[in-house]
Amino acid sequence: MKILNLGSLNIDKVYSVPHFAQPEETISSSGFAEFPGGKGLNQSIALARAGSQVYHAGKIGPDGLLLKETLLQAGVNTDLILQTGSVTGQAIIQVNASGENCIILLGGANEEIYASDIDRILKDFHEGDLLLLQNELSCTDYAIQAGHAKGIIIAFNPSPIKDNLKKINFAYIDYLMLNEVEGESLSGETDPDTITQHLLRSYPNLKIVLTLGKKGVIYLDAVSRYYQDAFKANVVDTTAAGDTFTGYFFSRLFNGEEIPAALEAAAKAAAITVSRKGASSSIPRAHEVL
Ligand code: RIB
Repeated sequence: MKILNLGSLNIDKVYSVPHFAQPEETISSSGFAEFPGGKGLNQSIALARAGSQVYHAGKIGPDGLLLKETLLQAGVNTDLILQTGSVTGQAIIQVNASGENCIILLGGANEEIYASDIDRILKDFHEGDLLLLQNELSCTDYAIQAGHAKGIIIAFNPSPIKDNLKKINFAYIDYLMLNEVEGESLSGETDPDTITQHLLRSYPNLKIVLTLGKKGVIYLDAVSRYYQDAFKANVVDTTAAGDTFTGYFFSRLFNGEEIPAALEAAAKAAAITVSRKGASSSIPRAHEVL
């Protein structure tokens, strides 16, 4: 079984701020740093650091070579990353004094993925392989439909919430990885259990993983429900915690572990990520999680 992440690649520009800028407010930042990021890149690095072989597909512009290099160094296969985009995706990230983040995206090359790219990328992937997607790329609806038609297992992280979600057939998705904000948008509910039940009623084949930050995570499918507590951590920067969770969860699951064990390892990895600055740079290695 092969793991393909058709995933976003961003240059993260991170500003440390006392609080998030409010409407009409100008604030000073106390620090700035640039990191390789993007939900896709972070999830591939988490998969690789957890011990999985992963193929990353996506697009960068001429300014994004460091992102490809970062993936290569983590052991990710980058043959399917094209350097044909106009400008590499960017994320402007405010991190406040509590370590929470607030992100503005510029799609750039991530939004220059077309159906023809997806057909070419999927050519070497088959039934039983895993296709991991986030919503930072263009054409996710087509990728989900084309992957599903080939019998590929589809895992989707609907972040960020955008209008294109209306074009996606959620019945084609096997694993839905989301947080409470995304859960509320998709279900209209606020209570975590009601969110997962609502989504499962609408799409009975879904396996839903709803992350709740420091409150833990809920897993729900047609036959089972599991809850995993969050591990205590000294929170410095929550960026990429969800991505780390996703990468470790799928690595463990597709390595044959049961869902509760995969959830536990993923929660441990995410707790380490929030105790460090940055996105991909904060993702732990397998031995640290052990
Ligand atoms: O999930 C964190 C990521 O979201 C950041 O690395 C940023 O690039 C945005 O994609």
